Amino acid sequence: MTIDDVKLIELPKFMDPRGNLSFVEQNNHIPFEIQRTYWIYDVPGGEDRGGHAYKTTDEFIIAIAGAFDVTVDDGKQKKTFTLNRSYYGLYIPKGLWRTMDNFSSASLALEFANTKYDRNDYMDDYNEYINMKSNGEI
Ligand code: TYD
Repeated sequence: MTIDDVKLIELPKFMDPRGNLSFVEQNNHIPFEIQRTYWIYDVPGGEDRGGHAYKTTDEFIIAIAGAFDVTVDDGKQKKTFTLNRSYYGLYIPKGLWRTMDNFSSASLALEFANTKYDRNDYMDDYNEYINMKSNGEI
């Protein structure tokens, strides 16, 4: 996978004077079957999250509230996506290093994954990731 496989996807939105509504469906806007949903919240100013790649996990991230940046790195290129609208989702397939930072106050990152939680699916060592990437192992 490379940076080009990362997609910023505009979600349906129903603007309404009573309040707006958006939604996601698996195998549709989210291009996989959802096995897990988690969220990151109460992030203190200046903190960052992520800093790893997954061997097999595809993810889809929505800034349900507030804003934050997601930087994706494929070993050759890096790209930063600012998520600041709840009707956009960022699809990051497996095998890509990602970090999340610049969380605004009261921001809420909602993340969908196509796997159950498994620590063995994580690659936490950036140099090891780069080696595996250049060998085509991931
Ligand atoms: P981690 O993925 O390391 O967070 P981040 O990448 O944002 O820094 O997860 C932090 C902790 O939460 C870790 O102890 C494992 C736990 N966790 C689960 O139990 N289930 C999950 O689905 C996730 C994503 C994390």
